[in-house]
Amino acid sequence: MVNHSSGADEVTPDLGEGTITAAVVESFAGAKDERLAHCIAVLVRHLHAAVRELEPTSAEWLAVVEFLTATGHKSDDTRQEFVLLSDVLGVSALVENINHRKAGGATEATVLGPFHMTQSPPRELGDSLDEVGHDEVCLVTGQVRSVDGTPLAGASVDVWQADDAGFYDVQQPDIQPAGNGRGLFTTDAQGRFHFRTVVPVHYPIPTDGPVGALLLDTGRHPYRPAHIHFLVEADGHRPVTTHIFVSGDPYLGSDAVFSVKRSLVREVRLVEDPRGAEYGLTPPYRHAHIELVLEPA
Ligand SMILES: [Fe+2]
Repeated sequence: MVNHSSGADEVTPDLGEGTITAAVVESFAGAKDERLAHCIAVLVRHLHAAVRELEPTSAEWLAVVEFLTATGHKSDDTRQEFVLLSDVLGVSALVENINHRKAGGATEATVLGPFHMTQSPPRELGDSLDEVGHDEVCLVTGQVRSVDGTPLAGASVDVWQADDAGFYDVQQPDIQPAGNGRGLFTTDAQGRFHFRTVVPVHYPIPTDGPVGALLLDTGRHPYRPAHIHFLVEADGHRPVTTHIFVSGDPYLGSDAVFSVKRSLVREVRLVEDPRGAEYGLTPPYRHAHIELVLEPA
């Protein structure tokens, strides 16, 4: 049908609610990267479906744009607000879950989180992550092995954690030395590692940005249960990004980033008897242990 009043003809699309989604998807069909074209098509379809369901006002959509803009502005070399956003929406955890479906006895993965943005300092086995000098000592021991039980010597164990007040070094550059609470260890001939640290406590994810405001506005608390992060790599094996969670923490049931797995909860027991002391430590001290099991690549 020819529209004589406007000059439009058959090739001029008449885009509206019913046709715009297909047109946008089609516009990306020429992308050389098929995976990219597929990802954009899926995102466009789901985003349009959300808009159709929500029917936002123009002011509401502008608020979305302003929120994302603020999220970008809040991000820099030591603060990753977009990772935080992905975390509180459960997307980071879902991506980890999808990519580690076939665990097959391997250690379960959890989110990387927003605080692994600096290089952990290489440390010797037995060293302390605590460069501030707390009195209370926590010994962490572990072994890295393959799913068939073979110990993995020379594996890289990257560790990072908040301190006993719930802060990472990058959050308190005036109080904590850079690298405090972090360490890069290499396992011994039996795949073992051990280090000293402080018992971490639960902490709020940063609430001074747009993601924190979103949580507060929606009545969600910002806390993560106490944990120590691990990123473990060994030749011929798939790396694993995981945590150990401190048993008994009040936020194990409501982690702000949806990453708790029962298999990763560990008791941080109190060692009081000198006969049970290890690595020359003098009781009382705390002790947690984890086996880190990797799948062959
Ligand atoms: Fe963390």
